[in-house]
Amino acid sequence: MTAPLPLEDSAADIVGKAMRGLKLDDAGVAAHAGLSAAAVQALREGEFDEMAARAVAPVLGLGADALAATGAKSWRPQPVEVVGLVTFTTPFEDMTVNSYLAFDRASGQAVAFDTGADCTAMLAFLRRENLSLPLILITHTHPDHIADLVRLQRETGANIFTGTREPADGARTFDEGRTFDCGALHLETRLTWGHCKGGITYVIHGLARPVAIVGDAVFAGSMGGGGISYADALRTNREQILTLPDDTVLCPGHGPLTTVGEEKAHNPFFTT
Ligand SMILES: [Fe+2]
Repeated sequence: MTAPLPLEDSAADIVGKAMRGLKLDDAGVAAHAGLSAAAVQALREGEFDEMAARAVAPVLGLGADALAATGAKSWRPQPVEVVGLVTFTTPFEDMTVNSYLAFDRASGQAVAFDTGADCTAMLAFLRRENLSLPLILITHTHPDHIADLVRLQRETGANIFTGTREPADGARTFDEGRTFDCGALHLETRLTWGHCKGGITYVIHGLARPVAIVGDAVFAGSMGGGGISYADALRTNREQILTLPDDTVLCPGHGPLTTVGEEKAHNPFFTT
């Protein structure tokens, strides 16, 4: 990666996700926050006001300081790089999506996590670095994450695996807790669902520091929307991701890399 990716979510996005997750409307939040419904609507639609943000935060179970910092654009995670981990960012409709490679130089083997919209750059990297790709692991099956799965498999001959609750054409399924090995890399799997039915977080051991590929479970300073269950998205993130060591590098499906320590200190969803 060259230029750092912007944060995926603004304060307005975060307020909107929490309101949808808790099934609250502007009037409902306003009544508890001591604000007008118009003030809540303005916040939700992108007019940032720190006083209003601090008033709605406790109603929405969000950390007030973290939400205020996001609104003021005064926080972003420290840039982080890990040898043997590469991010690929590709455009998909009106957004961008991340896919990742982790590799072990000694064995010359790599593992891919999702394909993003287009695996051209990933294939070029594998070729240039003379790496084979025995494994493609899917975080979840939302279309932006697996848009180029057929091509990546065809060009590499990799085996594709996905969690039992997120089946995909051409992929074998596995239950949470299964482990994978790729050269010197050892991977464990954790079920982090709620954004989707059966998202998997892959924890990689064997690089210079622990790395977790989290899909859309957690973003730097935010999280994927609770499309299936907001409560379970929050719970599984807390139980399965934020319990990892603070120096664990988190690799989200959208936006920049972050760490467990950064998110525990700065993510509005987890700083209440
Ligand atoms: Fe997703």
